[in-house]
Amino acid sequence: MRETPPGGWVSPESVTVTHSPEETVELGRRLVSLLAPPKMVLLRGELGAGKTTLAKGIAEGFNAASQDDVTSPTFILVHEYRGPQVNVFHVDLYRVDTQRQLDTLGLDDLFADNHVLLIEWGEKFPRFLKECDVEIAIESLGENDRRFKISSAR
Ligand SMILES: Nc1ncnc2c1ncn2[C@@H]1O[C@H](COP(=O)(O)OP(=O)(O)OP(=O)(O)O)[C@@H](O)[C@H]1O
Ligand SMILES: [Mg+2]
Repeated sequence: MRETPPGGWVSPESVTVTHSPEETVELGRRLVSLLAPPKMVLLRGELGAGKTTLAKGIAEGFNAASQDDVTSPTFILVHEYRGPQVNVFHVDLYRVDTQRQLDTLGLDDLFADNHVLLIEWGEKFPRFLKECDVEIAIESLGENDRRFKISSAR
């Protein structure tokens, strides 16, 4: 497995270490070259690993703006970022435990040709482990260091 320096080219099956949230956002921006839609991406890692921070960068990389200001329920499980070419949906399943709860999110409607789905805590449901195209596993190496392991599932 190749080590990719921050700021360098990101290839599939690579490992990158970032040293700040800003570097993680930047990594997310650069990842869009690997995420031509349609894609389902599992973001894996403990609480506070940096999944949402990375998702923010990916949405930015697609020049996609958040619609959250328009619809802002107390607990947002699906964030929608609409871009000129690609729509990014960022789903957080931390509080979703049953198939029934999952069904109410209507995720099936989000599988479209110009969509990229970023799913946090998707590994709770075997279906997403099976169907995802890319897995990004994030590990905390200390207060500000995070290791990102990117693998294409297929
Ligand atoms: N290199 C880094 N990359 C990303 N976040 C970092 C880094 N260093 C420190 N942090 C901090 O770690 C936290 C990451 O939070 P974030 O919401 O992205 O995590 P998460 O994996 O989505 O957690 P959760 O499972 O709770 O949703 C933030 O407080 C951020 O400031
Ligand atoms: Mg999160």
